[in-house]
This record gives sequence, C-alpha cells and structure tokens, in this order.
Amino acid sequence: MQIKDKVVVVTGGASGIGLGLCRRFAAEGAKGVVVSDYNGAGAARVAEEIGGLAVKTDVGDEAQVKELIDVTVRKFGPIDLFCSNAGIASPGGAEAPNQDWQRCWDVHVMAHVYAARAVLPSMIERGGGYLLQTASAGGLLTTLGQAPYAVTKHAAVAFAEWLSITHAHQGIKVSCLCPFGVISGMLPEDADGIGKLILKTAITPDQCADYVVTALEKEEFLILPHPEILDYFQARTNNHERWLHHMRKEQKQYVLASGTNP
Ligand SMILES: NC(=O)c1ccc[n+]([C@@H]2O[C@H](COP(=O)([O-])OP(=O)(O)OC[C@H]3O[C@@H](n4cnc5c(N)ncnc54)[C@H](O)[C@@H]3O)[C@@H](O)[C@H]2O)c1
Repeated sequence: MQIKDKVVVVTGGASGIGLGLCRRFAAEGAKGVVVSDYNGAGAARVAEEIGGLAVKTDVGDEAQVKELIDVTVRKFGPIDLFCSNAGIASPGGAEAPNQDWQRCWDVHVMAHVYAARAVLPSMIERGGGYLLQTASAGGLLTTLGQAPYAVTKHAAVAFAEWLSITHAHQGIKVSCLCPFGVISGMLPEDADGIGKLILKTAITPDQCADYVVTALEKEEFLILPHPEILDYFQARTNNHERWLHHMRKEQKQYVLASGTNP
C-alpha cells in the first residue's frame, strides 16, 4: 500500500512510534491522518503539527474505538489503514495484580479486536483495507521481567496472523510490527536495568516509521525494523530447549543483576 491519498488512523499517536508514524504518513501525502491517544492534549499537539485530526480515545474501551472510527469516516471518508499501536509497559510476573493483566489484555489484544470488529465490515464491502498491529519482538520471543506484556503481545501476534489468514481473500492486508528497542516514552534514553541493554540497538521512531512505510509498500506481514529479531525467532523455533537455556542466562545477567526480577 502506498500512503499517498489514504485515510489513516494511528492509536497511541501522541508519542514514540505512533508519533513517528503520524509524521511520516502526513509527509507521504495521506488524505487524512487521525492521531488517536488517551493523552488528548498530546494527540492535539501532534495533529496540529501535521495537519491531522486529534481524537482522544482509550483503546481498551470498545465504545470509544467505535466512536474513533465513526469520527474518522465522517471527517475523511472510509479508512484505508488502521494502525493499532497504543501499548503500555507492565512489569512483574504471576504476582502482578489482576488489574495489570487485564489492562494489558484490553490494550494489547481487545483494542485490536475492537478495531477489527468496527472497521472490517466496511473494508470488506469496499473490497480492501489494511490493518497494522503493533505487537513487539516480545510477542515473538519474550520480554524479560514483564509477563503481562510478553503474554499479551504473543496474543497480539496470534490475532494478527489469524486476521491475515482469514480475510486475505476479501482484500484485507494485515501487518504485524514487532520492533525491539525504539526510543520512546516506553524506552527513554536514560532507561536503566534491562532498558539499558535494549538501548544499545535501539532505533528512533523516525527510523522505525521509515521501515514501516517500506514494508507497507511491500505488504509484508511481519515488520521487523531490527532484522536480528528474525534470527532469534528462528533460533527459538529451531531449538526451543536451547533458546530457553539462553534466555535463562539473559534473565540472570540482566534482570536478576539489576534487582528488578519479579
Ligand atoms: N519502544 C519500544 O522499544 C517498543 C518495542 C516493541 C514494541 N513497542 C510497542 O510500540 C507501541 C508504541 O509504544 P511506544 O514505544 O511508542 O511507547 P510510548 O509510551 O511512547 O507511546 C505509547 C502511546 O500509547 C498511548 N496509550 C497507552 N495506552 C493507551 C490507551 N489505553 N488508549 C489510547 N492510547 C494509549 C500513550 O498515551 C502513548 O502516547 C506499543 O504497543 C509498544 O508495546 C515498543
């Protein structure tokens, strides 16, 4: 898909990866860019900068996602590309409170379900449309120290795969963005602990957006701005026992050592 003249929605558009996508989509000549975020003031700032429309949305609330889609269609017409990108970090393991697990499930999985449920019927009727779901390298591998995050990002990848398989014959394209480190609100430049390690190979949101636009042109399912993630993913599936052994060593070295182990 070429972005020029397309109607695009980006959730989590006020910051980080979403902000990079909004700027890049506007620069590509999108017909309309809708900057959606639960940080309404942040979304308004970005929308003003790029000449888009800000919509304050909590993506974990189905009624608000539906309203986001209705507002977009009223303003710009049918949606060509919906980017479910909002996300939250969530440290801890099994002991993390139920509300943290539920919030991750709502934001990383149900938000994608709500968006697909609301936007797919009209896309199918028009013979096509594109869904971009931001998961994470953690959704293909794991995220040390963050069980609610890792588990729900795996579910996000699974839902994206399912959509791609099920709706391809109706002209629906799906891509799943699985970055490793991207400097953002979630990974600030002064991050410590495991964040320090991730920062070593981190890219900027602009670099991530460049990568995404090229991958959308090729209509690739898996978008990996850090190509080494494909090697790790293959290592995981080729020899799962060996991969687990390696990850336990990483856990010892980077999480236990920093004292942030759940
Ligand atoms: N930064 C990284 O290293 C990295 C790596 C892999 C995946 N990701 C994923 O990228 C996506 C974007 O994160 P980021 O790194 O740009 O972080 P960020 O914190 O800079 O941006 C996330 C944005 O999502 C918004 N948001 C959070 N919960 C929301 C909700 N319920 N409804 C609406 N908006 C909400 C926040 O207000 C924020 O503006 C997330 O899904 C994240 O899991 C990030």
